[in-house]
This record gives sequence, structure tokens and C-alpha cells, in this order.
Amino acid sequence: MTQQFDLNNFEGLCRLDSTGMIAALEGLSAQCNQAVCSILKDVELPNIEAISNIVVTGLGGSAIGGDLLRVYTAGRISVPVTVNRDYVLPEFVGPDTLVFAVSYSGNTEETLSAYEEARSRGASVMAITTGGKLGEMASRDGVPLVKVPSGCAPRAATGYLFIPTLGILQRLGMLPDLNAEITGMISYIKELHKTIGPESPREDNVSKQIAHKLYKKIPVIWGTTGTTEVVAQRWKGQINENAKAPAYWNVFPELNHNEIVGFEYPLEILNKIHVIILRDERDHPRVQKRIEITKGIIKDVVDGFTEVWASGDGDLARLFSLIYTGDYASLYLAALYGIDPGPVKVINYLKWELAKE
Ligand code: F6R
Repeated sequence: MTQQFDLNNFEGLCRLDSTGMIAALEGLSAQCNQAVCSILKDVELPNIEAISNIVVTGLGGSAIGGDLLRVYTAGRISVPVTVNRDYVLPEFVGPDTLVFAVSYSGNTEETLSAYEEARSRGASVMAITTGGKLGEMASRDGVPLVKVPSGCAPRAATGYLFIPTLGILQRLGMLPDLNAEITGMISYIKELHKTIGPESPREDNVSKQIAHKLYKKIPVIWGTTGTTEVVAQRWKGQINENAKAPAYWNVFPELNHNEIVGFEYPLEILNKIHVIILRDERDHPRVQKRIEITKGIIKDVVDGFTEVWASGDGDLARLFSLIYTGDYASLYLAALYGIDPGPVKVINYLKWELAKE
């Protein structure tokens, strides 16, 4: 029997991590800081009279920032924010739409197609990328370009890809001054890093403890619509891409109307599910009540459940407290499986096969 990886073995963690995912995560606060202080400095704003709706188009690690924007701005902005993960755009996109085309590599074909479509519909487009074809197309078309630093995996570039969208909407007068909120979030995750980062021992480290609970289990992540929904989706994606393991997500209250009925059969699979319930004391009181009842329904069927509470002041800090905890847990889970968290060979294979035609 092979021995389980010791998560307190910092050198061992770094040895597994050939692409620097741990360092990139450690650098999240610096990344957000850089996004606030320098990335947006010389960026032109689109020439748009009235914006009726905003669309963020992108895939995977480049799309999650769109969901963060959608959830975070929901009570703060007067126009709808939609995230598009497809080749085509919704029918409503037109000259009164602001489209953020986001692709870290700049080469994702769905995003390039949606970019072209946005241009042909007369929408105001902004590109957020390290370069690639999207960078070339934006330069060719005179489209405002937010050029972010290259060198990490898209899913490890959330600060670079998300924070600029807030800054742009602020500069366009669509959001209030968020400086205090953003800098509060940055200091909070810096602090949090001390307890959940790789050098903090398992005994004190919630992310390491979560990784142990998810090891050899099927993670099911539940968030709540309007608050932690984007975090649940992020945890799922990070477990998939970093730990190369399956994971599933859903949200309250919707899951109380369907998914929860499916906890009867087959028991031998249900026993292998570990449920993560993402909690925020700001969630609707009726949702909190639903969560309490739901815990009672699943407790004797699944392997177990773990509640992870948002912390910090301000909605942004609270969202990032949970994202950061999950991001680290996914890296530690990769280590428990003895694998390198960085490479995503299957995604690259798909892109390579598709590029043949
Ligand atoms: C890889 C990752 C993927 C990519 C996705 C789109 O780290 O997170 O989900 O984000 O394949 O590629 P980009 O972001 O380059 O447009």
C-alpha cells in the first residue's frame, strides 16, 4: 500500500507542483493589487453612450471572473450582467451592450467566435487577455485591450481577469468607488494565507483538513443563489482541474426542489459523497433554515458533510475567503492523490484535436 502524502511536507508539495500553482495562489493578493494599481492604468474605455446590459464571454478559468462580477454587482448595478460560455451570443446583444471578451491565452475558439459576433452586432467590446489571437484581433480592430501578465494557468489568474472588470465599470460610472472594498479584500486574503497556505500545519489549516475529507470521496459542493453560488462552481472546477477528480455543484434553494430527492439510491455510491455546504451568515434566513433541514436529510446517507463559512468584512472579502479556501483545498487534494496540479492535458488535447480542422 502506498503511503498517503503528508500535507505538512512543504518541500514535497512544491516538488509535485511543476507549474508553480502554489506560488500563483500565494500571489493572489499581489495579483489583485497589480490589477488595481497598474494593469488598468493606460486602458482606454469604450465609446458608448448608454449601456443597457453587460456580457462577459469566456470559458473555464476565464469565465469564472464573469460570474464573480455577476454575483457581486447584482445589488449594485442597474443593468443585467450575463455570462456567456459559448461560440454564439444571446440575441439581446447589440449596440447598447458592453461585452468583455475574456481569454487568458487569447486563443480559445469559443471566445474568439463570440468576440467576432459581438463586433458584428455593433456591441462595445473590451478584450481581457495576455495576448494570443484575441490580443491581435483587438489591436487590429482598435478594441480597448486590457493586457494582463502571462505565465500562470488561467484558473490561477482570477485576480488579473476579474478585478479589471470592476475597475472599468467603476470608471464608466456604473459602479460606486470600490477601492476600500477591494483593498479590504486584498488585506483579508493576505491574512488568510497565513492559516490556509502550504506552510500552515494541518492541525490549524482548514483547507488541508477539507482535502483530507474529500480524499477518495465524491465532492458535492452546495452554495446559495446570489451569494456563494459562484464559489460552489469555482470549487467544482478547481477540484476537477487541479485534483483531476470529479466534483459536482448545486445551489440552495433550487436543490431542495429536485437534487435532495435523489439521496436514496444507490447507497453504495451515496456513501462515497462528501458534501461541502458553503455558508454565509448573510444568506436569506429561510435559506439558512432550509440548510439546517437538509443536513438532517442527508446526514445518515452520505459519507459526511462539512460546512465552510465565509469570513471577512465586505461582500468581496467574504466571496474570496471561500474561493481561497477552496483553491487551496483543491491543490492539497491533488497532493493527496500524488499528482501535479498544474497540467490539464485533457483540455489541451481537446483544443489540439479541434484545431486540426
Ligand atoms: C486552465 C483553465 C481552463 C481555461 C479554458 C479557457 O487553467 O482554467 O479552464 O481557462 O480552457 O482558456 P482561456 O482561459 O485561455 O481562454
